[in-house]
Amino acid sequence: MPDSQRPLRSQEWFGRKDKLGFLHRSWMRAEGFPGTVFEGKPVIGICNSWSELTTCNAHLRGVAEAVKRGVWSAGGFPLEFPTMSLGEPYMRPSTMMFRNLMAMDVEESIRANPLDGVVLLCGCDKTTPAQLMGAASADLPAIMVTGGPMLKGIWRNQEVGSGTDVWRYWDELRAGRISEEEWCEIECSMSRSAGHCMVMGTASTMTSLAEALGMTLTGCANIPAVDSRRYEIAQRSGERIVEMVGEDLKPSKILTREALENAVRVDMAIGGSTNAIIHLKALAGRLGIAFPLDRFDEISRETPVVANIRPSGKHLMEDMYYAGGVPVVMNDLLDRLHGGAMTVTGKTIAENVAGAQCHNREVLLPRGKPLQPSGGTVILYGNLCPQGAVLKTSAAAENLLQHSGKAVVFEDHEDLMARIDSPDLDVDATSVLVLKNGGPVGAPGMPEYGNMSIPAKLLKEGVEDMVRISDARMSGTSYGTVVLHISPESAVGGPLALVRTGDAIRLDTAGRRLDLLVSDEELEKRRAAWRAREPHYDRGYGKLFLDAVLQADEGCDFSFLRKTSRPEKKLPLAF
Ligand code: FES
Repeated sequence: MPDSQRPLRSQEWFGRKDKLGFLHRSWMRAEGFPGTVFEGKPVIGICNSWSELTTCNAHLRGVAEAVKRGVWSAGGFPLEFPTMSLGEPYMRPSTMMFRNLMAMDVEESIRANPLDGVVLLCGCDKTTPAQLMGAASADLPAIMVTGGPMLKGIWRNQEVGSGTDVWRYWDELRAGRISEEEWCEIECSMSRSAGHCMVMGTASTMTSLAEALGMTLTGCANIPAVDSRRYEIAQRSGERIVEMVGEDLKPSKILTREALENAVRVDMAIGGSTNAIIHLKALAGRLGIAFPLDRFDEISRETPVVANIRPSGKHLMEDMYYAGGVPVVMNDLLDRLHGGAMTVTGKTIAENVAGAQCHNREVLLPRGKPLQPSGGTVILYGNLCPQGAVLKTSAAAENLLQHSGKAVVFEDHEDLMARIDSPDLDVDATSVLVLKNGGPVGAPGMPEYGNMSIPAKLLKEGVEDMVRISDARMSGTSYGTVVLHISPESAVGGPLALVRTGDAIRLDTAGRRLDLLVSDEELEKRRAAWRAREPHYDRGYGKLFLDAVLQADEGCDFSFLRKTSRPEKKLPLAF
């Protein structure tokens, strides 16, 4: 049967002649829809992560209206629904703790309802991977419309990037180089429009990777949130999803190993957030695709960093859009991409980006003159991280990439906060700051504690970067020589738990190693004396999280959410 003649899934609810059909139609009529909406129009869910508590997504109700125009005009029937939303600056202990919960909400909302296809509206960091993971597991035709970055922040005629410049000016304030008044002015100047963070943080990275995966229309990711073209592409996405239902173009036909490899390649080329590695690993698990961490490193080694965007580079996301955005990056790298990968447009990546033109080679650098010839983010192994760790070299100090130093250990975030600025802290510029209990189980929820502040007394001496290591994450807007995601984490007895102040640690980025220079005998003694801390939760979602979360090298998804070989069982409708 041609795809266009397949019976619509929504007709199982609305097309029936029995009592259930009556009930399903009658309640929908309560919203004022005429009977024509039940006559074979594809029902398109608009999965909206709008929330006033997720400021980066607060404009998505307006974007949803543009999507609806497109769905109606293409002959579909749009129905907007909310899901959990994850506001990065606010959620305690970390949005990462709730990414899987939102992904479950998205998956089950799609699966349970009378939908034929879905438009995913996202923006803030975790909302994009949560929707991709949920939609991948539900596997109905799906297209993503990202919310777009904010306009640039401007303070006293200087550009101010979300997050990246907060960390920079915070250090300036602590070092006494700017005043409290200036600090307040910067606060008012940075976030001046709707949209997500406008550096290459996790939101800009994940939305760019959604496009690289083939899940958005071409050119969607980088359009500023307030640009009229954001609403135009939302409308076109609404039109397109109706066609996708007819073509039965589902995520399982788009999110393939090749698509994942394309996303990793683009991630490395744009100097993407380290968080992308966790999210792509989780997505691979949802798809049943074995995608080892080593593959990230292999692709990293052969991919130049070409996006000159903060925190790795100089410019902001608005500049990336004006320069041509993700299509230019992909067109420039096409010989290293899987050009034949299918996308939501119904065409391949190669067809989508053919002829993409760069309008500013200072922002999207030529391959021959990159920001860094390779290795935007590298994967490390060693006796401190037997299952892996990551380091974003494009945002690190080059002179620290090969470094040995004495550990200064903080047992957890509270300990860090209490002592980092103490004049008595025994630390110098060569020290290695070590943070324990920052991982998925230990923190819990693996917050972005990893870019520990430089101790105030060293800041005053002009120290700008140090080697810092932890099992936590860091904000994609951050920078520095910061080793993250050490697996297994300290809270489950990983080797990081055994480090003591004064131990020697060696970071060998060229050799992709991170080692604790302590004898095996001594480590065995310490291991025998180590005791796990009491779990943070004994009930509720927190307990589910602690019981089921996988380590960072597996993407921190829940073990029971990964794809299995058993086919989905169709359950009967009831009312
Ligand atoms: Fe939402 Fe940065 S806080 S993207």
